Amino acid sequence: MAEVLVKRLHKAFPDGTVAVERLDLTIGDGELFVMLGPSGCGKTTTLRCIAGLEQETSGEIRIGDQVVSGLRPSQRDIAMVFQFYALYPHLSVRDNMAFPLRAAGRPESEVNERVAEAARMLQLEPFLTRRPARLSGGEQQRVALGRAMVRQPKAFLMDEPLTNLDAELRADMRAEVKHLQQRLNTTMVYVTHDQTEAMALGDRIAILNKGKLEQIGAPMEVYERPATLFAARFIGSPPMNLIEAEVTNGHLTAAGGMKIAAPDGLERGDRVIAGVRPERFTVSSPAAADPESVRGRIVSREALGDETIYVVHTEAGLLHVRMPPTARFEEEQIVAVRHQGAAPPAYDPQTEQVVSR
Ligand SMILES: Nc1ncnc2c1ncn2[C@@H]1O[C@H](COP(=O)(O)OP(=O)(O)OP(=O)(O)O)[C@@H](O)[C@H]1O
Ligand SMILES: [Mg+2]
Repeated sequence: MAEVLVKRLHKAFPDGTVAVERLDLTIGDGELFVMLGPSGCGKTTTLRCIAGLEQETSGEIRIGDQVVSGLRPSQRDIAMVFQFYALYPHLSVRDNMAFPLRAAGRPESEVNERVAEAARMLQLEPFLTRRPARLSGGEQQRVALGRAMVRQPKAFLMDEPLTNLDAELRADMRAEVKHLQQRLNTTMVYVTHDQTEAMALGDRIAILNKGKLEQIGAPMEVYERPATLFAARFIGSPPMNLIEAEVTNGHLTAAGGMKIAAPDGLERGDRVIAGVRPERFTVSSPAAADPESVRGRIVSREALGDETIYVVHTEAGLLHVRMPPTARFEEEQIVAVRHQGAAPPAYDPQTEQVVSR
């Protein structure tokens, strides 16, 4: 168990590609910290620098109270689990899990004890004598986790470890990883490009874009108040509605006349982009006089069982609205879309940063 500190981490590859740019992260002892971002944003490179598989160009990495820059991976006392969890095909499950301990020259009694404990926690006891080829994808992934666990590392680094599993199994394994992390109480840095996974797993989420940090926060903080337009677009499905609006008398007014509660810190005449989650809009039958809503035509309707998603074409843009399944509107129907509740975050169109309160 240890805190992991990344200070002004910078990584440029020999061909000039800058993969990580002055990244600062403080990952708490025992925290499940998720790094989220699109392909190529520098997630794997950051993990590899922490693990010592890649040499940083500049910056400092600390694990516990030790500066690890310059230390070999084996000296850093951390375990990494990859997307392709290369198990040794000719070794049994037991021998796969025992491998890192034997490589480290641990006595066989300790090897047996730790493997048995990991197998029990991961419910792998029935499979100990099998070869990996005769396991399901989820079981193989559990073996890979077990192999990382037996070393009792200071921290786990997980690089999209569930990507190769089908959707249902991935949800199960996600819950298992979280449960395991809580029981072991070991610091974990978990990389994914799947925002649902990030929301479900993370104590905190760091959103990366082109090697730079966009935002760090608890999942609900990041969801409720994305710090940048990039973060706003990246988190949530259907996505946040981003609507051009102008500050009028105590409101944000969008094209078509829709009124949205205005956040503090803005002045009359300011032009902003309001970020409204689909559940903050409602669809209703258009009333004769309703100065607060915007009219539009339903262009798509997805009944998902527990909710229905409407896409409504309005003067203020294509709006995504999340409604309970009891709402019964049809495609092509003309409806009114109205904003409900507290002021949403608003973004400066130039800087793309949230306007501070
Ligand atoms: N050895 C290398 N030499 C040059 N450029 C590299 C090298 N490894 C990675 N890169 C580049 O660095 C950037 C970051 O790559 P990285 O693998 O860290 O992204 P990632 O966020 O893990 O993406 P993904 O979600 O696709 O795994 C990319 O532009 C990539 O092309
Ligand atoms: Mg990667």
